[in-house]
Amino acid sequence: MGVKPPPSGATARPPDTIRHFGRAVLRWYRQHGRHDLPWQVKGDPYRVWVSEIMLQQTQVATVIPFYERFIRRFPDVVTLARARGDTVLSYWTGLGYYARARNLHRAARIILKEHDGVFPDEFGSVLALPGIGKSTAGAILSLASDQRHPILDGNVRRVLARYFAVAGEISRKDIQAALWQHAEAVLPKRDTLAAPFNQAMMDLGALVCTRSKPQCRVCPLVGGCKAYALGTPDAFPTRGNKLARPTREVIFIILTDPKGRVLLERRPASGLWGGLWGFPECSLGEKPVHWCQHRFHIRATGSKALPVMRHGFTHYVLKIHPRPLRVSHAAGAKIEGKDRVWITPGAPGRRGLAAPVKQLLEQLDKEHE
Ligand code: ADE
Repeated sequence: MGVKPPPSGATARPPDTIRHFGRAVLRWYRQHGRHDLPWQVKGDPYRVWVSEIMLQQTQVATVIPFYERFIRRFPDVVTLARARGDTVLSYWTGLGYYARARNLHRAARIILKEHDGVFPDEFGSVLALPGIGKSTAGAILSLASDQRHPILDGNVRRVLARYFAVAGEISRKDIQAALWQHAEAVLPKRDTLAAPFNQAMMDLGALVCTRSKPQCRVCPLVGGCKAYALGTPDAFPTRGNKLARPTREVIFIILTDPKGRVLLERRPASGLWGGLWGFPECSLGEKPVHWCQHRFHIRATGSKALPVMRHGFTHYVLKIHPRPLRVSHAAGAKIEGKDRVWITPGAPGRRGLAAPVKQLLEQLDKEHE
């Protein structure tokens, strides 16, 4: 007790008490953690909330430019609540997992209606907002408001599963419960330490205790880490049988009019890419020209097919066959409507687009130059 471990890991004394755990992590954080991320502003839970939602499935380096653009356009909850859904989605284009943006927008509207536009500071009220689970609520209130709540995102889960050698499939309820207990136990008692400690744990998981090839030699927790002692840090956390993701296939119908404009449709609000704009789609068994005849009552003529694209979702891979077809001006005019627009590939306007749609539009724009 009270013996100062040296800053780098391998020779450190085992942090054999919970207090040592907190101290070692905080000491490491002061020297090696991330202190100048754009959302690290005290007292603004709105900004912390937006960043935590963006960071849910996306790495810091990818998030930063999206975050900065988003905050410039929607600097506070009220601006976000009053924006159109389409505008919000357009600022999410390229980040993926669009349900996050739809929930963020819904939550902003709830905050405006039920909390006078002020982000709530009571844990239960934060947890009740769409898109916010226990860990995200804990992160927001600890980082922005110095409240003492544990967190358990993917990075923290990995650090704890290794430190305590928690074996067992990570999605199991009892394993989750065990990890939450550890998360609560290692959290320093003082409220003001929750923010630096939680940020430190996320940074440690992202920078040192990485999924593959963890840097145990420089880890401040190596002295007490059970997985390290067992010699198998990367065997934790236990991952279930990773089945290969199945493939689904679809044809993207790229209808082009004589002005070089293409047709986009808005997708239904729920489901895959809900509310985003994209090309009309038909299944692989259909003949695109016949499909257009049937669906839009127009005659289209084929042109050169484009190379197949692949887009990864959590549960499957989508194999996309882009199929450009030409239509006359008069035929094009027939099929315009509320959720259908003709756009110039280089100027799709402020519309939420799925990543492969954005990519195809950029490609078409280049070809047109
Ligand atoms: N991942 C989730 N939240 C994070 C944060 N605040 N800092 C770094 N990575 C994170």
